[in-house]
Amino acid sequence: MDRITTERLVLRPFTPQDLDDLHDLHRRPDVTRYLLWDARTRDETAAALATRCRETRLAAEGDNLAIAVQLRATGGLIGEFNLHWLSAELGRAEIGFVQHPDHAGRGYATEAGRQVLRLAFETHGFHRVIGMCNGSNTSSMRLMERLGMRREAYFVQGEMLKGERADLAVYALLAEEWRGARPQVPAPGLPTARG
Ligand SMILES: CC(C)(COP(=O)(O)OP(=O)(O)OC[C@H]1O[C@@H](n2cnc3c(N)ncnc32)[C@H](O)[C@@H]1OP(=O)(O)O)[C@@H](O)C(=O)NCCC(=O)NCCS
Repeated sequence: MDRITTERLVLRPFTPQDLDDLHDLHRRPDVTRYLLWDARTRDETAAALATRCRETRLAAEGDNLAIAVQLRATGGLIGEFNLHWLSAELGRAEIGFVQHPDHAGRGYATEAGRQVLRLAFETHGFHRVIGMCNGSNTSSMRLMERLGMRREAYFVQGEMLKGERADLAVYALLAEEWRGARPQVPAPGLPTARG
């Protein structure tokens, strides 16, 4: 991916120099509480970083784009997004995001998320971008709502997370919604304007 510069952030591919900052993120149980993986050792973070350094473009279905989020003011890594190409046939991708708690509550994830959605819809031409999170992860749900994503499903005790049953919230946004257009077709089962 090409570097993207916003008012306060730079979005860019990962490099091996990100290890200290990434480990400061991945070592924290408060960060990984709702993630599918647990707080990492430095070796585990190094392995995760090696994977991210290879995930630099979306060339085929199944590919993941790993995006480092850097604060312009300090040059430090404050978080990460990923954009995972789920289906070529359906034009479907999934976003994921993690941000360091020291940088929470300032709108950085929202600022970065808008660029990731722009990348998904405008650069890669995806039709539908989804995001999923634990039903107790209110920060994550609020972020997706700030990004304009619609909550489409809430599966009560629909998954297992760290050995416990957990709710799963599913959000989505269509390309035409991103462009500001109204969806052409109502979701199945929802009433139409004519009832
Ligand atoms: C999900 C996560 C990235 C959200 O981080 P966040 O700090 O809440 O999100 P932002 O950086 O966009 O900041 C938004 C907050 O800053 C406030 N804010 C301040 N200035 C703002 C601005 N210029 N623009 C937008 N929001 C701003 C918002 O009101 C909001 O506060 P609120 O949550 O009290 O309503 C973060 O909680 C996280 O990394 N969690 C751990 C990992 C995780 O669970 N990831 C999701 C897995 S599915």
